[in-house]
Amino acid sequence: MKINVLLSPHNVDELYFSKKTTVVIDVLRATTVIITALENGAREVIPVISVDFAMKVSGNAFGGQTLLGGERNTTKIEGFNLGNSPSEYNSETVIGKSIILYTSNGSKAIVKAKFSENLFICSFKNLKAVAAHLAKLNNDIEILCAGSNGMFCIEDTVCAGKLINEICDVSNDVELTDAAKASVVLNDSSGDSIFEMLKKSEHGQKLISNGFEDDLNECAEFSVSDVIPFYYSGVIKIFKEEDNEFKPE
Ligand code: MLT
Repeated sequence: MKINVLLSPHNVDELYFSKKTTVVIDVLRATTVIITALENGAREVIPVISVDFAMKVSGNAFGGQTLLGGERNTTKIEGFNLGNSPSEYNSETVIGKSIILYTSNGSKAIVKAKFSENLFICSFKNLKAVAAHLAKLNNDIEILCAGSNGMFCIEDTVCAGKLINEICDVSNDVELTDAAKASVVLNDSSGDSIFEMLKKSEHGQKLISNGFEDDLNECAEFSVSDVIPFYYSGVIKIFKEEDNEFKPE
């Protein structure tokens, strides 16, 4: 199994992902929000790349059972139901709902990887569950870090490094690209506290100054969820083994 890490989505185009097994990471905060929403009973999450498109989809579809969620410059968008704090996606709010999610980097990274044969969503919150599943699949893996406006960001890369370590613990035959090795080194030198690492990161600092420090606590939670979000045909749902059987060849 060969593992590569893409440090930002900007260096590749959509077709790069065709026939690949891809994992998208946006620890602060999009992929943590997606895992939380599905864990708390949301029917599905629909990632979109523009606010206009989010508005259009929510107006017409899914029998009024939609919620618009996400952020622009970390803050809830006018006319949206929810922002981008994991705590907003509690079961009372999201149960049975289709959530249309627009975020500055995370939702766009997921849509960019839409041609992947398998597309999973990861953050610290579900890291062990994703690692165990990937080890079982035994495919080559592309880990796509959502980054920040096309730039590298530390928290996604540390999460990628931790995911790789976890996979290596259970798989013997793993080959790492240079970017994958660098992610492992970064994780190994990032200290014991995920929360402290997030606090010192550029995006963590921005969230703190915009009043979202509590979100860092939630985003730092490690492997507290077994939910593996899986993107297929425009929507993200919880992966179930049977899903493989329904996928076209
Ligand atoms: C993103 O997609 O860039 C993030 O989710 C931004 C945020 O922290 O809200």
